[in-house]
Amino acid sequence: MDLYQHLQKLPKVELHLHLEGAIRPQTAVELARKNGVSLPHSDRPDELYDYNTLDAFLDVYDAISKTIVKVDDFRRITYEMLQSASQSGARHVEFFISPHAHEGVPFARQFEGIRLGISDAQVDFGVTSLIIPGMNRELGPERGEAYLDEILANRGDDVVGLGLDYFEAPYPPEPFAKVFARARESGLKLSAHCGEAGPAAYVRGCYEVLKVDRLDHGYNVVDDPALMAELRDAGILFTCCPSTTQFTTPHRDLGSPSHPIRVMKQAGLAVSIHSDDPPMFNTDLNGEYVIAMDQMQFSAADIKTAVLATIDHAWVDETTKRNWRQDWMPEIDAVINAL
Ligand code: ADE
Ligand code: ZN
Repeated sequence: MDLYQHLQKLPKVELHLHLEGAIRPQTAVELARKNGVSLPHSDRPDELYDYNTLDAFLDVYDAISKTIVKVDDFRRITYEMLQSASQSGARHVEFFISPHAHEGVPFARQFEGIRLGISDAQVDFGVTSLIIPGMNRELGPERGEAYLDEILANRGDDVVGLGLDYFEAPYPPEPFAKVFARARESGLKLSAHCGEAGPAAYVRGCYEVLKVDRLDHGYNVVDDPALMAELRDAGILFTCCPSTTQFTTPHRDLGSPSHPIRVMKQAGLAVSIHSDDPPMFNTDLNGEYVIAMDQMQFSAADIKTAVLATIDHAWVDETTKRNWRQDWMPEIDAVINAL
């Protein structure tokens, strides 16, 4: 059995995945045709996902999001995403959604389809899931306030947090302090993409000013050793996505000793492994674990630490976490000990 097949059996928790970035290219092409929406540069599934920068990636992400229109489209992409995650060994998935990217589609319709996909996938694959609406930082804090209102109006027990994503560099986190504080007061957990295209100062801003519970990516923290030490001591989780760095950051060599994920792990930061936008970055959750071991010097013990961190930092109650640890530990140990 090869490493991929072996690690497939490792129970996993996916904490950093975007629903719209998980659309299979074939599905995007079919839905575009059905809904009369045009796709960028190609309507051939094998040519659709072609980009080399965060900017160019986000353009395609927005374009394919516009192919998702009907309730059943949202059900289908959610179900297919959870099917793929579950084939990778995911038992629980907390995923981002980008409702603003589906221009003109009411939030209520989007949530209806997503919820159908979640419940169908739970029945068919036994995978549980929670929703984290992502706030597009490029739209600014005022539209962010209106966005939060819409999210709260469509909220159920399954909406567990608020994220911050899209293009980072000219959009520092501090202006979002007020809207993030309101989300917190409304009972939502918080996370933010940072340190992917933005500097270490944005990582600090997300932690100190937005007061997030998890940091998504965070790679440029390596430029600020004092901040690294602080965040190591705080135990905050960095949800890292190896393949993404090959498309959206200058860190394209996954095997380099100076790759930030490797540096962060070596510095003792809590890092976990995730798939971000799996088909768009030509990967899946299990493939990211394989990359961590094959190319980023994660030992068997590091993999176990990373998996346990995803359990510890999931946004579920303590009883659920205790049950997961109890139920999954024999399987986790069997996989880890045979590595
Ligand atoms: N949305 C989906 N993937 C993203 C990423 N890697 N960075 C910022 N926004 C995103
Ligand atoms: Zn992401």
